[in-house]
Amino acid sequence: MKTRFAQPFLLVIAASVCLISTASLAAVDEEAAKATAKRNDCFKCHAVDKTKKGPSYKSVAEKYKGKADGEEKILKNITTGPKVKLEDGTEEDHKIIDTKDKAEIKNLIDWILSR
Ligand code: HEC
Repeated sequence: MKTRFAQPFLLVIAASVCLISTASLAAVDEEAAKATAKRNDCFKCHAVDKTKKGPSYKSVAEKYKGKADGEEKILKNITTGPKVKLEDGTEEDHKIIDTKDKAEIKNLIDWILSR
């Protein structure tokens, strides 16, 4: 008899877990992030899961996993144009993003960090 009571509870728990995870996913607008990256030619040097001239976004996310300063470091990287070393060994100033819209930039960074 006990399991009959347990089942609805498990469903409620499962449903809440789903709701919570979709809520946190919804915080990143994936389409908007990709559009920003595309417009800025980020994909010329970065792909989500393979190394191009620059590191894959997966490896960037991996590098900053569990670290609090990831967002700040990336923000610096894409707004101040530091010298970076490309995979082919040459150096150039990193691309500076074409927008000052904080929400748009944050959305892009959150998207990268959640790869
Ligand atoms: C000309 C090629 C090129 C373009 C275009 C480019 N990047 Fe990069 N990016 C690099 C390279 C190379 C690195 C590696 C820097 C290093 O590790 O020294 C890098 C590093 C990064 C990192 C990791 C920073 C860190 O703290 O480790 C992020 C995030 C990033 N780029 C995002 C972007 C975004 C967003 C854009 C578009 C606005 C962009 N990149 C455009 C070449 C490029």
